[in-house]
Amino acid sequence: MTSRETRTQVVIVGAGPSGLLLGQLLQRQGIDAVILERRSADYVLGRIRAGVLEQGSVDVLEHAGVAARLHAEGMRHDGVEIRFRGRRHRIELKALTGRNVTIYGQTEITRDLMDARVASGAPSVYEAEDVTLHDWDATSPRVSYREHGVVHEIACDFIAGCDGYHGVCRASIPLERQRTFERVYPFGWLGVLADMSPPWAELVYANSECGFALASMRSRTRVRCYVQCPLEDRVEQWSDQRFWDEFRRRMGEEIADRVIGAPSIEKSIAPLRSFVVEPLRFGRMFLAGDAAHIVPPTGAKGLNLAISDVFYLHEALRDFYCARGDRALDEYSIRCLRRIWRAERFSWWMTRQLHQFPGDAFSRRMQETELEYLFDSPAAQESMAENYVGLPLEQAGVSMPV
Ligand code: FAD
Ligand code: DHB
Repeated sequence: MTSRETRTQVVIVGAGPSGLLLGQLLQRQGIDAVILERRSADYVLGRIRAGVLEQGSVDVLEHAGVAARLHAEGMRHDGVEIRFRGRRHRIELKALTGRNVTIYGQTEITRDLMDARVASGAPSVYEAEDVTLHDWDATSPRVSYREHGVVHEIACDFIAGCDGYHGVCRASIPLERQRTFERVYPFGWLGVLADMSPPWAELVYANSECGFALASMRSRTRVRCYVQCPLEDRVEQWSDQRFWDEFRRRMGEEIADRVIGAPSIEKSIAPLRSFVVEPLRFGRMFLAGDAAHIVPPTGAKGLNLAISDVFYLHEALRDFYCARGDRALDEYSIRCLRRIWRAERFSWWMTRQLHQFPGDAFSRRMQETELEYLFDSPAAQESMAENYVGLPLEQAGVSMPV
């Protein structure tokens, strides 16, 4: 086994949306980066995940020069619907906030970013094995990996840990240097992707007696639908027929009547978790996206937070390389955490209000009261709309307490 050594400015671990977008933003600033990804590009593209983009995220993707297809194919929604006990309520996102959300799958964003990276000639290594961080606490860190049996080592100025919840970057930090906050929910989401013209114009979140359900979409011919399921369930226990029967039951009559149970293209179960690590910086290593935090998907915030993290990180690295100093790097963690905790709060709140929890009668009454208050109070609707469309990104150079 031979060993090869190279050098770059930033090593990015992970080619999910965080890593690819950071690579693109840095590339446009003339900052060199190498992306190391454990899986193949096809595997990364095969993962069906998020679908809702805040307007701020669309702005960042535009800034990164990768929004042409998003503008052509993404669907702008000015409202979302909440259903509870036969009542339907549209939260008027646009009317209440002046902003909207765009439906465009994470897979499509990933594809656009991969295409842009190939076009730019910037280096990515897929199927990089045994990615290992060295000297992340010193001024000259290194990252090693194995490719086709050959060990490579890259010397760099910074490491960006964009490698998701199960990645190597956060795991490389001694536990006494990190503080973690976590909540695991007692259910999962079973998601189905299917080719069918969506019989709903906007997303519908339903809290039914049988559990939560969500009607979403990816295009005018493709739907993405979810139902709350027990954590121990396996995908094989859920035939398409069983899924659609349950989805219809939870959505209520007028959607049920219009749903044709098309065969699933993809079906998967995701556990629900809230998680944050503090801080996000460890010496010369910076965490971003799911490597640093997880939100339950109910608030549609996971992908949007990943985008805002890497936007802040690219600004901080740009300042460093433009000889504007270390201040933005020093403030990266605090700047991200303020936004992260607000998204955590909103995602926790949405999850709390819309799912069936095993619990006492008091908690159930609280949930009912909260949803009825939301339906009846313009102030509560405005608060939900403000969070759903996304809180604004902070301006650079403003330091704030967490
Ligand atoms: P990831 O997308 O996880 O990318 C990390 C990358 O790092 C991966 O490609 C991984 O292979 C790579 N990697 C990991 N370890 C290593 C290593 N040791 N070496 C090299 N590379 C490594 N959000 C929503 O808003 N709505 C949803 O419906 C939704 N559904 C989801 C379903 C699932 C199953 C999951 C896991 C997440 C879901 N999310 C959803 C969250 C959203 O998809 C994530 O927030 C988003 O993918 C974060 O992007 P990321 O790039 O930070 O992390
Ligand atoms: C989708 C996922 C979400 O978590 C959500 O809140 C809304 C939509 C989706 O996959 O389309």
